[in-house]
Amino acid sequence: MQEIEYIKQEALKILAENDFGSSYVKIFGKSGVFTQAAKKIKDVPEKNRPIFGQELNKAKKEIEQLLLEKRTEKSTRPAIKIDVTAPGKKRELGHLHLVSQAISEIVEIFNKLGFTLQSYPEIDWDYYAFESLNMPASHPARDEWETFFVKGEKDPKYGNLVLTPHTSNGQVREMERAKKPPIRMLNISRCYRRQIDISHTPMFHQFEGLLIDKKVTIGDLKGTFDYFTTRFFGPERVTRLRPHHFRFTEPSFEVDVTCGICLGKGCRLCKAGWLELGGAGMVHPNVLSSGKIDPKIYQGFAFGWGIERTIAMKTNLPDIRLLYQNDIRFLEQF
Ligand code: DAH
Repeated sequence: MQEIEYIKQEALKILAENDFGSSYVKIFGKSGVFTQAAKKIKDVPEKNRPIFGQELNKAKKEIEQLLLEKRTEKSTRPAIKIDVTAPGKKRELGHLHLVSQAISEIVEIFNKLGFTLQSYPEIDWDYYAFESLNMPASHPARDEWETFFVKGEKDPKYGNLVLTPHTSNGQVREMERAKKPPIRMLNISRCYRRQIDISHTPMFHQFEGLLIDKKVTIGDLKGTFDYFTTRFFGPERVTRLRPHHFRFTEPSFEVDVTCGICLGKGCRLCKAGWLELGGAGMVHPNVLSSGKIDPKIYQGFAFGWGIERTIAMKTNLPDIRLLYQNDIRFLEQF
């Protein structure tokens, strides 16, 4: 029977060109040569059918035998040696960057005091970054912020666009949003300044707190800082307020925390026992007025601190630029 011979040749060709698995599918699978051939039995004249069937079966057996040999041939190949006693490979686990870890911790601590996280623009108008904070155009106090200005249209009321040099741009924005006190805002954002050295990077993060209510005192401000410090740095670290000057607070302070290495005794890192955390103060009446809040009825306190700096103070980092070098040998230590 010529057809059967033809089918057999085709199957042998498949066997020669394919491995066991594909040969099996191409020969005996749903559209395999034998399955297709079996379907053709109805086209064979009736008297020839029994013989066609027998021949087809014979050919099928032969090919099955060859296919089996092909499988065993494969399995007799030398097996890959596996040392079952070798220790397993540990999968390395990553973790959040230190800055992200610190942000979650800070948010959690201030949430407990009722401060809620708000988000304000990273590129903002001069008005929110300076003017509304009691720093009129060309006031020399602005120089401290080493600001990057964005080229472009100037708004007649809001002025230029700037890359926010501090998160205080959220203060008047929050007063406008909330409309009426009480306000307890936490604003965390990236900030930018034209500065780079061991304690500055041109891009960094700040967290800004703003609380406005009736009868708010410096005692509330100090209590809030003590709460934050003991939670974030540990119970052995304490804060102190040092008189300072900011245009948007009156009185203004710088907040210091005892050094993590000498705990206030004085050492090579801190010199006199204290490390500076950042600025704070009682919100200036002019700033409340910018936010349409009556300074005769309401008072508030505010603070703005660098996240990279707080991390450096907690982990005794010698250079905050390490945080942005993406060196895994450094990052893995935390
Ligand atoms: N914005 C100030 C800075 O970046 C820090 C600051 C000082 C924020 C006093 C405040 C504040 O909210 O009341 O240097």
